[in-house]
Amino acid sequence: MKKDQMNNLLYEALETELGGVQIYTTALTCVQNKDLKEEWEKYLEQTQNHVEIVRGIFEKLELDPDVETPGRGVVRHIGESLVKAMELAKEAGEPAAAELVAAECVVLAETKDHLNWELIGELAKEAKGTTAEALKEAHDEVEEQEDEHLYHTTGWTRELWIKSLGMPAVLPPPEEEKDVKTAIGAARAKHQRAGML
Ligand SMILES: [Fe+2]
Ligand SMILES: [Fe+2]
Repeated sequence: MKKDQMNNLLYEALETELGGVQIYTTALTCVQNKDLKEEWEKYLEQTQNHVEIVRGIFEKLELDPDVETPGRGVVRHIGESLVKAMELAKEAGEPAAAELVAAECVVLAETKDHLNWELIGELAKEAKGTTAEALKEAHDEVEEQEDEHLYHTTGWTRELWIKSLGMPAVLPPPEEEKDVKTAIGAARAKHQRAGML
């Protein structure tokens, strides 16, 4: 296991969570659907907590959370770009279109967030001592929430798009209704959408 690259990942994870707070805050100014708004309010709160959880890992591993790394610079750039994309969509003055853009931006951000935590889980299995403990404890707390953030918002994005195309949509999406927490569960829920119309 390469410790330098583990640290790079942790800096990216911290930056992803910090960006996530900005992304949800902006997405909440674009959302139209009441149920989705409630979901995102919950995810914003959880993401704020994830920032603290990652900071907790930094403390235990004696890493300085303020160090700048090339990787976190890229993550920050992407996060700021997603916020700008949503603001651009809002300025265009089409609320339904801005909501779709916000949903897509959340999916893009959560894809990275989900990957980070999946990798932190892999590291936790391989690491030893304090590192293993710190990573495992954080991962156990966060993993299920990240599954929900990604799979449920992906479902919302697909169904809101289908609705915008003038076709029957399942809202809230099947992923939400079936409380999906795995990739295979998400695939199954999507497969069953026709029967839920
Ligand atoms: Fe997160
Ligand atoms: Fe997340």
